[in-house]
Amino acid sequence: MKKAIMIIFALFIVVQFIRPTRQNAKVVENLQLKAKPEVMKVLKTSCYDCHSDQTVWPWYSQIAPFSWTIASHVEDGRASLNFSKWESYDENKKKKELKSIYKKVYAAMPLSSYTWIHKDAKLTKEQIKMIRDWTGVRR
Ligand code: HEC
Repeated sequence: MKKAIMIIFALFIVVQFIRPTRQNAKVVENLQLKAKPEVMKVLKTSCYDCHSDQTVWPWYSQIAPFSWTIASHVEDGRASLNFSKWESYDENKKKKELKSIYKKVYAAMPLSSYTWIHKDAKLTKEQIKMIRDWTGVRR
C-alpha cells in the first residue's frame, strides 16, 4: 500500500516535467474585435480565456494533468476563433463565425468544464439573447 502511494507520487512529479506552452501572442490593436461595451463585457468574461490572445492562465494551469487539458482547449479555441485577430478574418469567415456563435452560445459554449470553475462565465438567458442579437443572425 505504502509502495503504491510512493509510485503514484513519483509519477505525479515526473509528469510535471511535461509542460505544454502557455503563451499569449502580442495583441495588435487594429485586429481586435470591437463591439458595443455590453457585448465585449460578456465575451471577455465568458470566452476570452480560450478565444483570444488575452488568456488569463490560472495557477492550476501550471499543474499536470490539468495543464495539458487547459492548454489544448486554449490552442483549439484560438485556432477556430480568435477575437484578438477578428479583423484579420475576411467577410465569409466573420459571417460563418457569427452564425456559429449564434448556435453555440445556446448550450455548447462556454465549455462546461470551464463554467464548472468559472461560475461567472455561465451565460444567463438575457446574455444569450444579447449575444445572439449582436450576431445579427436571423431565422
Ligand atoms: C474553456 C475554453 C473555451 C471557452 C471558455 C469558450 N470556448 Fe468556444 N471553443 C473552445 C474549443 C476548444 C473549441 C473548438 C472545438 C469545438 O468546436 O468544440 C471552441 C469552438 C467554438 C466555436 C466554433 C468555431 C469554429 O469556427 O469552429 C465557437 C463559435 C465558439 N467556440 C464560441 C464561443 C463563445 C461565444 C464563447 C463564450 C460565450 C466560448 N466559445 C467560450 C473552447 C472554449
